[in-house]
Amino acid sequence: MELFNVYPVTPINIVRAKGSIVWDEQGTEYLDLYGGHAVISIGHTHPHYVESITNQLNNIAFYSNSVLIPIQRRLSTLLGEVSGKNDFSLFLCNSGAEANENALKLASFHTGRKKVIAFSKSFHGRTSLAVAATDNPSIVAPVNQTDNVVFLPFNDEEALAEAFASYGNEIAAVIIEGIQGVGGIREASIPFLKLIRSLCDQYGSVFIADSVQCGYGRTGLFFSHDYAGVEADIYSMAKGMGNGFPIGGIIISPKFKASFGLLGTTFGGNHLACAAAVAVLEVIKQDNLLANAEAVGNYLIEELKKFDKVLEVRGRGLMIGIELPEELAQVKKDLLLKNKIFTGEAKPNVIRLLPALNMNKEMADRFLTAFDERLKA
Ligand SMILES: Cc1ncc(COP(=O)(O)O)c(C=O)c1O
Repeated sequence: MELFNVYPVTPINIVRAKGSIVWDEQGTEYLDLYGGHAVISIGHTHPHYVESITNQLNNIAFYSNSVLIPIQRRLSTLLGEVSGKNDFSLFLCNSGAEANENALKLASFHTGRKKVIAFSKSFHGRTSLAVAATDNPSIVAPVNQTDNVVFLPFNDEEALAEAFASYGNEIAAVIIEGIQGVGGIREASIPFLKLIRSLCDQYGSVFIADSVQCGYGRTGLFFSHDYAGVEADIYSMAKGMGNGFPIGGIIISPKFKASFGLLGTTFGGNHLACAAAVAVLEVIKQDNLLANAEAVGNYLIEELKKFDKVLEVRGRGLMIGIELPEELAQVKKDLLLKNKIFTGEAKPNVIRLLPALNMNKEMADRFLTAFDERLKA
């Protein structure tokens, strides 16, 4: 059987990994500043993480949500503490798309409305409603197309105010990434997030903060939306939550009422995924990784701004976009092939840095030296 060929693949077989270093089958070492797409939050094969999952596996890996699963409660308590959203409640699922799907669905149940506001260059996942709210027609199948989602220009306060003024009473939700990832590391402005909050309050709509990529401490605060000093009604999470173990979730403000059967999943919240997620939060808390993400990230951002050839450096903490001119489009590839450094990209010419939150300054310097070499080459 062949694999369904949907991924353009870099021909490197990573067989071992530790922290922010990975090795291929020839033993070649790479610095990983991509984290498998913002997923590796506490570093590859972190000993506490490996131990927690192994212990859990030896006891029980899975049972359905029809029985008590106390480790879910441990996860929600810890998540409340580390995120500062103690009064929210947690629904667990398995991926970022599913998290947004559930967030949108819950908003619709809660308001009894159908319309969703999303923004240009957004990416919210590939399930039906999440993809309908994603600004990329090439991944929206005919069956996913819906007039219920309206796209507005990102950070355009006037357009948002006009939309609410004309059909605010039909709007179930506004969904927005605090920093757009796939869209090229573009930050939602603080006034824009504040306006979303006040319009949602005024019209009874739900503010959904897609934190799948920009959340979980990556920017130095637990949710990047927190920089605006406003609180969303639902935060969606995945990626860094399990450090590679598939888990996603939404946290839900106390204004929502749960009822049996409203949301549900077979695998979401299973013992093994929760053991992974608890270990991640324990490490984030114990090693103060939010502060590290902020410090190392700010250092990188400031140093990157000094390169003349860089058009723009965007982002916060360890979610960084480096916009390059077209003639330097080769830099990302050469960083990997010649300097053995994994980075991410956003079209057309943005290098995305999404490393583990415990990446250190020495690694940052290693990247800066390599980047300098590439720009001079
Ligand atoms: C902001 C954002 N939301 C949602 C998703 C979808 O997550 P998943 O691929 O886990 O379904 C992604 C994935 O890149 C993302 O970046």
